[in-house]
Amino acid sequence: MGELAIDKHVRYIVSIEKRKDDFESVVMEHLRMNGAYWGLTALDLMGKLDAVDVDEVVSWVLSCQHESGGFGGNIGHDPHILYTLSAVQVLALFDKLDVIDVDKVTNYIVSLQNEDGSFSGDIWGEIDTRFSYIAICCLSILHQLDQINVEKAVKYILSCKNMDGGFGCTPGGESHAGQIFCCVGALAITGSLDLVDKDLLGWWLCERQVKSGGLNGRPEKLPDVCYSWWVLSSLIMIDRVHWISKEKLIRFILDCQDMENGGISDRPDDAVDVFHTYFGVAGSLPPFFCPPPLCVIDLMFIRYCAK
Ligand code: FPP
Ligand code: ZN
Repeated sequence: MGELAIDKHVRYIVSIEKRKDDFESVVMEHLRMNGAYWGLTALDLMGKLDAVDVDEVVSWVLSCQHESGGFGGNIGHDPHILYTLSAVQVLALFDKLDVIDVDKVTNYIVSLQNEDGSFSGDIWGEIDTRFSYIAICCLSILHQLDQINVEKAVKYILSCKNMDGGFGCTPGGESHAGQIFCCVGALAITGSLDLVDKDLLGWWLCERQVKSGGLNGRPEKLPDVCYSWWVLSSLIMIDRVHWISKEKLIRFILDCQDMENGGISDRPDDAVDVFHTYFGVAGSLPPFFCPPPLCVIDLMFIRYCAK
């Protein structure tokens, strides 16, 4: 079995910052804040966060903040809860949370909770359990969880639970590993995991491992490296991670590396990107590279690495 090509992946991530106008950078322009979180966290996991200029990153993050308190995906872009969590996570990564006005960011997130406990992603009102997780994760990093109605938030998440034990994006929505990660993560942070049928959900999740060792996000779908995060951390949170083969999963991830130019793709022989590089690195690192936890969920994932 090959190894994780750490030096190449570090070089790949650092080079993305420098290439401002190639295809990937243009496609990523509107979600640069998420890209920054994925790339920087991957660097941190590989012990190479010092490859970037902290002050430059922190001042760029701050210049993406909107007067409402939320953050945009790039300078001058509209704020959204998706980018707000990434911004807070990047600042937490550098231990720089003191540069923001915590109350302002908190108020932005609080303003997105709806009467039924759900969360909208921004002022335009799209509702999704992803946004419930993001709100809860972000406020928990900021130690402001008591500013929302947690009981209603949990109730809404439970209303998105399906007969197969999984969760969807809204009530009645199909179970999907990404949404399951969000719902289980939110329930974990709020101390409500006793409301999950762990055996039923664990069964659905472990069935996501296919012959190649990779994990898919729904029945009959292709495996994809990013599900090594969504599925694996969900399994860890409900104590059922031993129901899949870690060795086979790592082999699948390592097969998705670009051994020439660095980076990891969604599945073998596809083009690499920073999103899958982050999830691939997180899923296949040996324990001695484990970083300090960024949030509850990262910690759970890292505990799995350490086993
Ligand atoms: C593709 O779905 C979607 C993904 C690969 C991402 C799923 C992840 C989430 C919803 C969780 C996001 C979490 C946060 C915190 C923002 P698809 O139906 O197009 O792909 P498929 O073929 O793999 O099912
Ligand atoms: Zn993917």
